[in-house]
Amino acid sequence: MKTLIIYSTKTGTTKKCAALLAANIGADSCDMFEIGEKLPPLSDYECVVIGSYVRMGVIDKRISSFLQKNKDELFKMKFGLFICSCLADKVSEAIMKNFSDEFMDHAAIIDCFGGELPADKIKGMDKLVVNSIIKIAKTDPTFKVFEKIIPESITNFADVLKEI
Ligand SMILES: Cc1cc2nc3c(=O)[nH]c(=O)nc-3n(C[C@H](O)[C@H](O)[C@H](O)COP(=O)(O)O)c2cc1C
Repeated sequence: MKTLIIYSTKTGTTKKCAALLAANIGADSCDMFEIGEKLPPLSDYECVVIGSYVRMGVIDKRISSFLQKNKDELFKMKFGLFICSCLADKVSEAIMKNFSDEFMDHAAIIDCFGGELPADKIKGMDKLVVNSIIKIAKTDPTFKVFEKIIPESITNFADVLKEI
């Protein structure tokens, strides 16, 4: 299944997930591009996957614009969407906020692959945000935070795309 994976990353986790997904689909048949790079035509592929990190509840604006611009073509193809995010209880909210109903209707699968908070790559104001997330998670047991990629979600995502 010739697959194009387009991703956006700030600290590397979404890129890592894109590579793990490619390995699950069959790396030989996958091309990976970061948003902002010159992208090949979608029509060269049987399947397209688009993934983004979430920050302050939203995915990368360049990914949102790409989806809007290419939705007519995507809706005629097999495509999947994924996010990398850390707030476990906000996954559905993040998906619904960032992907409109028409994407929900047309996508073969939309999922979250978990997230990571690599201390060495998060600086300045971003560090303050992350420290407060971690602090709440430590004191409130109902507030769940992913600090890891969820490999089963990636395997399942690949399986769904391969089965269609
Ligand atoms: C400043 C900042 C804000 C974040 N905001 C959110 C958020 O609103 N919701 C969430 O679930 N995760 C949030 N995260 C966690 C990221 O989604 C997570 O670190 C993800 O793995 C980042 O992917 P990347 O390494 O590809 O950039 C935030 C992380 C940072 C550093």
